[in-house]
Amino acid sequence: MILWLTLIALGLWTVVFRYRRRRLYKLASLIPGPEDENPLIGLAHKFTGDDEDIMSALQRYSYVTMELDGLMRGWLNHILYFVTLNPQDMEVVLKTCLEKDDLHRFIRNIIGYGSIFAPVPIWRRRRKILVPAFSPKIVENFVEVFSQQSQVMKKKLETCCNKGPFSLWPFVSTYTLDSVCETAMGVKINAQSNPNSTFLTSMNSILHLVCQRIFHLWLQPEWLYKLFPRSQVHEKCMKTLHSFTDGVIKMKRDEIRMEISNKSEADCEYDLGNYRQKTFLELLITLSGGEKGFTDIELREEVLTLTIAGTDTSAVAIGYTLKLLSMYPHIQDKVYEELYEIYGDSDRPLIKDDICRLKYLERVVKESLRLFPPVPFIIRKVLEDTKLPSGRILPAGSGVVVSIWGAHRDPKYWGPDAEVFDPDRFLPERFKLSHPCSYMPFSSGPRNCVGYQYALLSIKTALSTILRSYRVVGDAQTTASPRIRTKMAIMMKDVDGYKVALEKRKPTSN
Ligand code: HEM
Repeated sequence: MILWLTLIALGLWTVVFRYRRRRLYKLASLIPGPEDENPLIGLAHKFTGDDEDIMSALQRYSYVTMELDGLMRGWLNHILYFVTLNPQDMEVVLKTCLEKDDLHRFIRNIIGYGSIFAPVPIWRRRRKILVPAFSPKIVENFVEVFSQQSQVMKKKLETCCNKGPFSLWPFVSTYTLDSVCETAMGVKINAQSNPNSTFLTSMNSILHLVCQRIFHLWLQPEWLYKLFPRSQVHEKCMKTLHSFTDGVIKMKRDEIRMEISNKSEADCEYDLGNYRQKTFLELLITLSGGEKGFTDIELREEVLTLTIAGTDTSAVAIGYTLKLLSMYPHIQDKVYEELYEIYGDSDRPLIKDDICRLKYLERVVKESLRLFPPVPFIIRKVLEDTKLPSGRILPAGSGVVVSIWGAHRDPKYWGPDAEVFDPDRFLPERFKLSHPCSYMPFSSGPRNCVGYQYALLSIKTALSTILRSYRVVGDAQTTASPRIRTKMAIMMKDVDGYKVALEKRKPTSN
């Protein structure tokens, strides 16, 4: 009897649930889905494997989306998603659907309402303060930090020279972490010299735990997660990150108070020029209005956001570029020729003015970001029915996956050789995008990456410092389309940790 009543209640609940969402079902049915969709659970069973399987599934459905004219429907149980890679449609999505998908809530545990995943009303205020802090004039002054930190990385890499393949990941990820901590907080955490530093290990562990939570349904409910021992590790790591950042914030506030009390009123005027040498933390305190501006918690959220958003992303880009250069030695030779023209046999560190002379390296980085974008997918919420330029309608209550990975490989926009690694496609005379959104490693629209100029400076500095001293050696490719096994780890990472071998270059050779 109880069983029957339960079944009837469940049946009624399903009818009401479906009736309320009838418009969603109707609009969803107008957009094609993939052939392997299960009528009950949709594509949920396709996202159950390990991080590599999940990435392969997302890439596979990007190809299916290309065949379905740039927009695909995909149910994950009762949750409706769309994948898009049509540039006109993506532009509208990125301009109008500003709210991040609920899957990001697990990262919010760490960075709270830090701008990257904050709800729109909070994000708007924070973005206004972040943008001037990332102005080119401020960011270019950080090249000195990137240059010093990349010299440290170069020295560390020397121990791996001529010893066969090894993973670049620990070297590049600690380079970017040291650079970000120094420019964001003004602290040298020396992760490159001390890979066991608590800040570094806590950040790595917590990001790994969050990624697992996003893709494993049974880890998602808070009450259930608390039953797993990993939730205690999570708590411990979070406390470490928070107390470290809180300590730095307190120190900076005290320093600023001291500075202000030692200055006359005229010296304290609002002038970005005064802040050129300052860290992001100092800029955020000042630009938000000093004592009356961001609270300590808001500052912590933003500083941790910058640390998390800026560390692995740039490290991944450096890793893929080095790996690609190891696979295509003739392209690496051209990079080295350019570096040799600038530096000759000198081992002076890179300075700001060198960056604009690295024209070929810039094309290589752009091409690497095209084929292996560190953030391959962006997921936004659709809060109201959204009509796309292609004529289709995304219903309110769904989620939309913008496939940067797919857009970057669609032959419709990149030609039949879309999968080929060809840096010269970015030569000014050849580069003619039919729509700006067909190339957007840093996203597009009002929520795009504020750190893109910072990232490009850091990436180019690190690459030129390494490539001047070492030849990267890998499995030379027989085809022009590189095959690299990738996995989903919040961003898209190389399965084998960017394994290459290094050979030291001799002073006068090229
Ligand atoms: C190769 C390196 C990087 C890549 C590929 C990258 C990519 C992205 C992408 C795709 C987004 C936008 C997501 C969306 O539209 O929903 C984003 C947002 C963001 N990125 Fe980056 N990023 C990189 C480096 C950095 C660096 C170095 C920083 C800071 C130091 C940074 C800070 C941010 C912030 C704060 C946001 C949030 C912006 C907002 O919501 O208003 N990123 N990034």
